[in-house]
Amino acid sequence: MCGIVGYTGQRMAEDILLDGLRRLEYRGYDSVGIAIASDGLKVFKDKGEMSKIEPTIPRWDGSMGIGHTRWATCGKPSKENAHPFVDCTGRIALVHNGIIENHLALRKELEDEGHVFTSETDTEVLVHLMERYYEGDAHAALVAALAKVKGTYAVAAMVEGDDRIVAARKENPLVIGMGVGENMVASDVTAVLSLTSRVLYIMEGESVIVTAGGVTIFDRHGSRVERQPTTVTWTLEDAEKGGFEHYMLKEIYEQPTAIHNCLLGSLDEIDSGAVMPDIDLSTVKLVACGTSYNAAMVGKYIIESMARLPTTVELASEYRYSPGTGESPLTVLVTQSGETADTLAAAREARQRGCRTLAITNVVGSTISRETDHVFYTNAGPEIGVAATKTYITQLISMYLLGLRLGTMRQTLDRTEVRHLSTELRTMPRHVSGVLDRASEIEKAVDMLVPARDIFYLGRNINYPTMLEGALKLKEISYIHAEGYAAGELKHGPLALLDASTPVVAAAVNDHTRDKMLGNISEVAARDSPVLGIGVEGDRELAAIVDAMIGIPKVPSILSPVPLTVVLQLIAYYVARKKGCSIDKPRNLAKSVTVE
Ligand code: AGP
Repeated sequence: MCGIVGYTGQRMAEDILLDGLRRLEYRGYDSVGIAIASDGLKVFKDKGEMSKIEPTIPRWDGSMGIGHTRWATCGKPSKENAHPFVDCTGRIALVHNGIIENHLALRKELEDEGHVFTSETDTEVLVHLMERYYEGDAHAALVAALAKVKGTYAVAAMVEGDDRIVAARKENPLVIGMGVGENMVASDVTAVLSLTSRVLYIMEGESVIVTAGGVTIFDRHGSRVERQPTTVTWTLEDAEKGGFEHYMLKEIYEQPTAIHNCLLGSLDEIDSGAVMPDIDLSTVKLVACGTSYNAAMVGKYIIESMARLPTTVELASEYRYSPGTGESPLTVLVTQSGETADTLAAAREARQRGCRTLAITNVVGSTISRETDHVFYTNAGPEIGVAATKTYITQLISMYLLGLRLGTMRQTLDRTEVRHLSTELRTMPRHVSGVLDRASEIEKAVDMLVPARDIFYLGRNINYPTMLEGALKLKEISYIHAEGYAAGELKHGPLALLDASTPVVAAAVNDHTRDKMLGNISEVAARDSPVLGIGVEGDRELAAIVDAMIGIPKVPSILSPVPLTVVLQLIAYYVARKKGCSIDKPRNLAKSVTVE
C-alpha cells in the first residue's frame, strides 16, 4: 500500500522524510520519491528498494518536503510512475494514495488545455488540476482540484515559495504528527513516531494546512474544525499492525475497503468492455493454486450461473503437464502474487496451446501481468500475512465482475439483472463490516474446535468451494487437519470418520440446497459430531440442529461466499490464536511460491 510522509519545521526535511519512508516500508512498495523545497523545488524518485535508492539521492538543504512509497495500482512500477508528481510549471509537487476513478476523462481535458503528462498514473491528473486552479493559495487549489475527481485519496501537496503543506483525505487514512515548531503529515502513524507521539487524525472529507507552527483543519464545507491531538502509546511494531495483534487480523478487517477498491470503476466499466475485452469464446478455463484455486472454484459457479458458459477449473501444477484437448478456451490465471511458478508455467502453456489468457492478480507489474493477453487487478493492497485473506475476497469480487461482464456480452443477463447484481455487489463492504462486528461471538464459538485433531468443513453448491477455502485457512495457520467436503459426498466415505471427537463446520445458506444441507447436518449430528453451523441470521431450523450457530447477513445466495468467507477466516484466526500458533508466518509456508 502506498505511504505518504511530509515534514515542515527547522530540521533537514530530507532526513526526516527518509526515516519516515523507511518506517512505511513494511506496507509494501515498489518505488520511492521525495520533493524538497530547497532553493526551488527539488524532486528525486526511482523504482526499487529504499536501501538501494537512498545512497543515490542528492543531499538537499531545506526544511519542508513530502515523500512517498508507491505500490502500483494504475501504471506499472517505474521511475516515471513514482511519486511525487510535479506540474508543468515545476512549482507544485504532490503525492497520493488511493484511486482516481475518472482520471482518463480528466487527463483528456487537461491535455486539451495543454498540460503535458509524464506518467501512466491516475494520480498525475491531481497535480495538473492544482496547477489549473492555483492562484496563490495552495489549499484552495487542492480543494478545487479534489472537487473534480471521483475516487479515493489521501493526498499531500506543496508549492514552491509557500511554507505550507496542504493535505486531504477521502477513504484513505491521514494523520498529522504534532511536534514543537515542527509538524508532519503521514498516511500512517508509524511514519511520525520518531518525531512525536502526539497525533491528530484527519477525518473523512477533511482537508488540512500544516505549517511548522500550526495545523488548521477544515471540514468538507470549508469550515474550520477544532480538534485536540491524541497521544499514541503504540510501539513501532504495534503501529505497523494498526493496533491489531497480527497482520492477518488487520487484513481481515481491511476487507470492506479492499472490496470497495476492487469494485471502484469496474462496475461502471462492465458495459464498456474494459473489465473484460470483447472476445469470442465458448468455454472458460480457470487455472490457479491454493487459495486462488478455491476462488477459481467459486468462479466456476458464478460464470456458469451468470453467463451459462461451460467452465472448468484446474490446478496449475496439473494443467502444465496435462495433455490438452486441442480446444482453446479463454484461460484465466488467478494468482494474488502474480509470481507463483506453477501458475506462470500454466500461463505459458496456455499460450502455447493457442488460448487467450487473462490474469487476475493483485500485484501490478508482476510477472503474470507481463505474460498474459489481458490483466485485471484486484486492488486489495499489499498483504503481509502468509494466509491470503483480503486478496482472496477480492478474487471473489473479480469473479463476480467477470461473470457480469460475460453475462452481459452473451446476453444471458438482462439489464435489470445486471443492475440488481451490481447494486447488491456494492453492498458487500457493508455486509462484511456486519460480520466483523460479530467477531467476539465467533471467537467464543470456536472453543469447540480448538482441541480437535480433524475437522470437516461441509457445504454445497457455490459454498462447497467456500468451505474448501475455510478448511485450507484453518490448516495453514492452526495446523489442525481440516477437510473441505461437498456435503452430498459425505455418505460416500468420510462419514466413517465421524464421531464425537471430530467436529464439523457446516454452511447452510438461503439457496436451493439449504434443505439438503440441513439433512446432511442431521446425519453428522447423529454420529455425535459437534456441529458449528453457519447460516442466515434468524434461521431457527438450522440453530435447532447445531451445537453453535453463527449468523451471516441475508444476501442473494450467489453472493453468500463473501460474508461466509469472512466468518471462516475469523474461525481459522481465533482457533490458531487460542492454540498459540505463529499466525502471520506459519511453519513451512511462504507468501509467494516461486519454485515448482
Ligand atoms: C494462501 O493462504 C496460501 N498461502 C497459498 O495457498 C496461495 O494461495 C498459493 O500459494 C497461491 O498463491 P498465489 O495466489 O500468489 O498464486
